[in-house]
Amino acid sequence: MSRFQVVEQGPPIEVFQLTKLFAEDSFQNKVNLSVGAYRDENGKPWVLPVVRKMEKQMAEDDTLLHEYLPVLGFEQFSQLATAMLLGQDNPVLAAGRAFGVQTLSGTGALRVGAELLNKHLHYTTYYYSKPTWENHHLVFMNAGFTTPRTYRYWDEKTRAIDFDGLMEDLKNAPENAVIILHACAHNPTGIDPTHEQWEKIADVMEERKLFPFFDSAYQGFASGELDKDAYAVRYFVKRGFELVCAQSFAKNFGLYNERVGNLSIVLNNSSHVPAIRSQVTWIVRGMYSNPPAHGARVVTAVLSCKQLFDEWKDHIKVMSSRVIQMREALRAELVKLGTPGTWDHIVKQIGLFSYTGLTQRQVEHLIQEYHIYLLKSGRINICGLNPSNVAYVARAMNDAITKFPDDHDTIAHSKL
Ligand code: LMR
Repeated sequence: MSRFQVVEQGPPIEVFQLTKLFAEDSFQNKVNLSVGAYRDENGKPWVLPVVRKMEKQMAEDDTLLHEYLPVLGFEQFSQLATAMLLGQDNPVLAAGRAFGVQTLSGTGALRVGAELLNKHLHYTTYYYSKPTWENHHLVFMNAGFTTPRTYRYWDEKTRAIDFDGLMEDLKNAPENAVIILHACAHNPTGIDPTHEQWEKIADVMEERKLFPFFDSAYQGFASGELDKDAYAVRYFVKRGFELVCAQSFAKNFGLYNERVGNLSIVLNNSSHVPAIRSQVTWIVRGMYSNPPAHGARVVTAVLSCKQLFDEWKDHIKVMSSRVIQMREALRAELVKLGTPGTWDHIVKQIGLFSYTGLTQRQVEHLIQEYHIYLLKSGRINICGLNPSNVAYVARAMNDAITKFPDDHDTIAHSKL
């Protein structure tokens, strides 16, 4: 008899379970539209050439050691990452009111930031968009938050942002509630607020004294422009908010498994920086002690050299343009087939994902009959599409939608 018999089997993590099922599937034309990772036009992962180049140089560099990093990571990395987020010339940097801490990718930044807010500011309520990246909930609960709430975000009928619902939910939020906001390329819907909408969100958050916690997982990847994708965070900073932002370098550098992240913290008074740094040090010390070096070294080298930085900016343009092309291609195929429903939302959305509007039954059909893997919410990773499989995927979607019509669509069409 084992004392461990009390341990019950937990549920699988959908996105990784699908990746495993895909890998095990022997069907030749299988398609993986599940995990949010870039694939090139041949369906293959892409190590960015500038990353490969740096790694080769690093392999030859005998001065690089495997000594521990400081608990808060590479100082230079964090400074560069925070400057990339806020913009080099942001006055808060010159005023010493913003700083960064190296973390275990975006997830680690979310966790450390949430623990800081919970332990030291005693915040307990957090709001995430409905829907959101499914891990937000768990990370905040594990960090000590006790009251999870959602704000409306996606309107299923219009396949667009439910802005009235969002505003109403924020208006009803209690003071000091932490609001998780996606900096750009909202995961899973691919729909971001417009500049006017961000302004209104900031108004209500200011009025209700809510705390912005940005999650920036796609800077540069969404539009191809670093500055454009940082608009919302910079706008909130300009408005005078104190805030934190979790930054991931998984997608924009293709460094998924190197866990390169940064937690940026913006304050209204630089004199608070030393105390916060010291408390974050203790949070990290008790969690994983200090972060890994490899990925942060690569990012630091690229962000600190004009020539490498320009090469990297070309790479993010390649990735974001391919996504945009595939959005167009999928919509065109669906329209060509006369697939019931409207498909403009696929091209209006940005970033890796499209929230297609496919129902759970339709998703099951795609997986079972066509070996096309996607989340049951209907989210697809657009990068999983390429010129060789987009027609196949569109035909499969058309079949699923025709065989198992969604009630909304059926009603909408019978009215036409
Ligand atoms: C995704 O949303 O697919 C990625 O961010 C991978 C993950 O950790 O969920």
